[in-house]
Amino acid sequence: MSELNKIALKILENGKGILAADESTGTMTKRLESVNIQSTPENRLLFRETLFSSSCMTECIGGVILYDETIKQKSSKKNKIPELISEMGAAPGIKVDTGAKVLAGSPDEKVTEGLDGLRERLKEYFKLGAKFTKWRGVYNITKNFPSELSIQSNAHALARYSSLVQESNMVPIVEPEVLMDGEHSANECYEKTSEVIKKCFEELILHKVDLTGIILKPNMILAGNKSKDKISNDEIAKLTLKCLKNSVPSEVPGITFLSGGQSEIEATENLNLINKHNDTNFIMSYSYGRALQHSALKFWSKDIKDIEGTQKIFNHRAKMNTLAAQGKWSKDLEI
Ligand code: 13P
Repeated sequence: MSELNKIALKILENGKGILAADESTGTMTKRLESVNIQSTPENRLLFRETLFSSSCMTECIGGVILYDETIKQKSSKKNKIPELISEMGAAPGIKVDTGAKVLAGSPDEKVTEGLDGLRERLKEYFKLGAKFTKWRGVYNITKNFPSELSIQSNAHALARYSSLVQESNMVPIVEPEVLMDGEHSANECYEKTSEVIKKCFEELILHKVDLTGIILKPNMILAGNKSKDKISNDEIAKLTLKCLKNSVPSEVPGITFLSGGQSEIEATENLNLINKHNDTNFIMSYSYGRALQHSALKFWSKDIKDIEGTQKIFNHRAKMNTLAAQGKWSKDLEI
């Protein structure tokens, strides 16, 4: 078993999942302002430190994805943030892409950037304690999109990123996100997501990435948020499993879903059903941002000094998702 495979399995052991707390300063500002909190470095840190020192970090959260600002910050007890996370029992991780930019040649689509100087940045993050990294490619579904150009160029970037990350002895999270925005049906999402993921693995293999030392972070198969097509949670789970079974090589140890705009309960319920039906060897867990933080952020914004109350809400959400990652969640466990 390779060292990278061990890290990936440790992050996902016993139903553990990943907290995606890697919102860029721009995105975090939007989140904080939506609950009337000023977005200062101190407030961003206070909310995040509140989450990172919660008890679920030991029982339920195997890894935390950080943003560059946070991995360099110190906690109120003067601990480095990656050390705080490790002491709680989780692995610190870092988002290393520099964002999705207009794709030349298809200006209505995006390609993710950040390869220039990446090898040097990775060395720095490794020294700061990072055990894994994240890079997100993003795809829109319309009549003509995602184009072959967008599928090809994002897969190429994800593969070059993954190869550099493994060279630096960290586990790359490979995140191709097919967005749920739009009028498309679940079947269209299934077709496009399958194409996107297959191309990613074609490139990962070409770039000699060790597939036992990555974590795939895909979207679930959903109908677009403006679609007339309504499918049940059970169908979402079955289509998601069918897509992954047909497009992900069996060496990959784990798949952690993004929540992508689903509500907290929806994201938990769908993950639970995926695990109930899971007849693969893949660990299927979560790497949620909004679906882990939304209620905690709302509560915290009413009194930013109420650390305990905020942690209680976050602990509950993490616990529910860890149960879902084992197919053991049910609605009556919700508060
Ligand atoms: P959401 O779960 O809010 O989609 O965020 C996950 C993530 O890391 C997106 O890149």
